Amino acid sequence: MEKIDIAVVGASGMVGGELLGLLEQRNFPVGQLFPFSSGKRDSFIKFKGKSIKCHAPSIEELKKARLVFFVSMDEVSAAFARKLAEAGSICIDDSSYYRLAEDVPLCIPEVNGASLKNFFKGKNKGNKSGILIAGPNCTITGAAVSLAEIHRKYGIRELRISSYQAVCGAGRDAMLQMEKEVKHYASTGEFPKEKGVFPRPIAFNLFPQVGGFDSEGFCSEERKVSAELKKILNAPSMKVSSTTVRVPVLRGHSLAIWAATEKTWTIADLECSLEKTPGLKFFRKPEEYPSPLEYGTRTDIVYAGRLRAAETGKNEFQLWTVSDNLYKGAALNSVQIAEYLADNGLL
Ligand SMILES: NC(=O)c1ccc[n+]([C@@H]2O[C@H](COP(=O)([O-])OP(=O)(O)OC[C@H]3O[C@@H](n4cnc5c(N)ncnc54)[C@H](OP(=O)(O)O)[C@@H]3O)[C@@H](O)[C@H]2O)c1
Repeated sequence: MEKIDIAVVGASGMVGGELLGLLEQRNFPVGQLFPFSSGKRDSFIKFKGKSIKCHAPSIEELKKARLVFFVSMDEVSAAFARKLAEAGSICIDDSSYYRLAEDVPLCIPEVNGASLKNFFKGKNKGNKSGILIAGPNCTITGAAVSLAEIHRKYGIRELRISSYQAVCGAGRDAMLQMEKEVKHYASTGEFPKEKGVFPRPIAFNLFPQVGGFDSEGFCSEERKVSAELKKILNAPSMKVSSTTVRVPVLRGHSLAIWAATEKTWTIADLECSLEKTPGLKFFRKPEEYPSPLEYGTRTDIVYAGRLRAAETGKNEFQLWTVSDNLYKGAALNSVQIAEYLADNGLL
């Protein structure tokens, strides 16, 4: 395949670092690479043995790339992504800024990749003009991937989720915060009291808040979980309630899921669907459930276990999932979107 010039905005961050590693590992046909950071401090990234300095992005510099990955802040995506797409670049955005925009596909290739083809044909008449595609919030990955097949077959009408979200989901500064708090405890024997980047200390703690609260008492992550799951599963009338919780796990998000369907099933039917679900490894034996320490770092798929019928409602079951928020929840998913476009002659 022809080499493609690529820009990575946020190359010096947690997702950016993983994305560069994945482009290299998966032999993505990278022509020239343009890495960008805030430009507030000197930062260098390593790619194919070369050290390259990051610069602050500008529209002129970004236009030099055919494909631009945004793995930075919402406001940076807002400032550049749509303008670039309109000018003919392909933009894949990991921020939350465009996820719910009607004209922007929200994509996990194994869940709804096929809809990208129609999107290209319909809106852009397959003429390879620029385009903007969003990757979803890392918290919904476990639910969207594991439930996709069951939803197709049995129609999920209600979903309840409790998340157990790793610290690195909040970026590099959050990881440093947890490290500092653990060291503080190791050297003084006292629990940390400072809040740092989180609303509470995170080491040896957990709290039911991811993002700020709105006037109805929801935190922003809970709103994202509901809206993005409905969009990605193409289920506008599905009811979704969640409590999103930050836990002192370094990497890998876990979900406890309660799902109620329209149609009836047996546990054997659900096991069968889960085993056939693309991008999912399902553990039948209850004691073989996945945990983030084993399955949350540099894994390419979602892991699920603890399937059982729920006592609380008709046609309701429970499931546990674990996935790598930095890989399948962010960097890998973005690279897979680019690979999907390349494989389908859309790049
Ligand atoms: N972490 C996850 O699990 C995860 C999962 C899904 C989606 N996301 C999304 O991915 C994005 C990056 O997250 P992260 O965890 O990698 O954050 P991070 O570790 O804090 O990194 C942020 C990156 O953005 C850069 N940046 C900040 N301001 C910028 C500006 N004005 N112009 C250009 N670059 C700028 C930073 O550059 P400096 O090095 O110069 O500060 C750094 O490279 C966010 O939108 C996040 O919501 C994250």
